[in-house]
Amino acid sequence: MTAVLPLNDKIALVTGASRGIGRASALALADAGAHIVATARTQGALESLDDEIFARTGRRATLVPLDLAEPAGLDTLGYALHQRFGRLDILLHAGGVLGAMTPVSHVEPGLWDRVMLVNATASWRLIRSMEALLKTSEAGRAIFVTSSRASSPRAFWGPYSASKAAMEAIVRAWADELENTAVRAAILDPGAMRTRMRAEAYPGEDPSTLPDPAEIGPMVVELALSDPGQPAGVRSFRAWKADREAPGTSA
Ligand SMILES: NC(=O)c1ccc[n+]([C@@H]2O[C@H](COP(=O)([O-])OP(=O)(O)OC[C@H]3O[C@@H](n4cnc5c(N)ncnc54)[C@H](OP(=O)(O)O)[C@@H]3O)[C@@H](O)[C@H]2O)c1
Repeated sequence: MTAVLPLNDKIALVTGASRGIGRASALALADAGAHIVATARTQGALESLDDEIFARTGRRATLVPLDLAEPAGLDTLGYALHQRFGRLDILLHAGGVLGAMTPVSHVEPGLWDRVMLVNATASWRLIRSMEALLKTSEAGRAIFVTSSRASSPRAFWGPYSASKAAMEAIVRAWADELENTAVRAAILDPGAMRTRMRAEAYPGEDPSTLPDPAEIGPMVVELALSDPGQPAGVRSFRAWKADREAPGTSA
């Protein structure tokens, strides 16, 4: 007899699914039974994710190559999901860019626009395109990946910090609007993880000292299954991990 998996029959849209945290989260959600709709720009990496999901679960993903800097594509995606599935159960938004590490006064206008488009505007466009589909689910769950730089900006992190702060603000406002629905929105701070973006920001760092993004998978599944009474605000992977290792000790 086949065991019923916790996310059996759930439809999960994952942005940034081609690598890093988004890819690892897509694998964890697939392992937990969800059908993955995977997006990013790099088609070959999405195909390799699909192959890995198939090898692990015997199920295929739906691949949607798109550029978050062209957010009208998210409207098209929302329409396609409506036509094909009629609902969305889980939205995990991990797609994002660092931009250049540079003093605020030196930021090129084009770079500013791109970072804001990909990290901030696309988050709002996802909400706009996916809200109705999430509301059609019995218990829609949306998870937006942030960074501690949103609340603690540092030198040379200007556009990235501003874009993540904007994303957090829009998600918090939306979460408040959802109070009387079955949909819940969470903000997830992964902390430092062994990914390409981290290596771009800290080229001299030894990646082997950082957690593998696969470690965040169980927390993502937990958030996807969370009850509607979960507290709002930023959820920290570090605190979640510390609590798992020594329950009751994290702040
Ligand atoms: N790693 C860390 O230490 C860390 C810490 C705090 C927060 N975060 C956040 O975690 C999330 C995932 O980052 P990561 O560390 O896993 O970085 P990553 O390995 O560089 O992955 C970034 C993902 O975003 C996608 N992406 C970038 N630009 C895109 C665009 N214009 N359109 C569509 N997709 C795009 C990339 O896919 P394509 O290039 O194929 O399009 C890739 O799948 C980001 O939101 C990041 O801000 C990471």
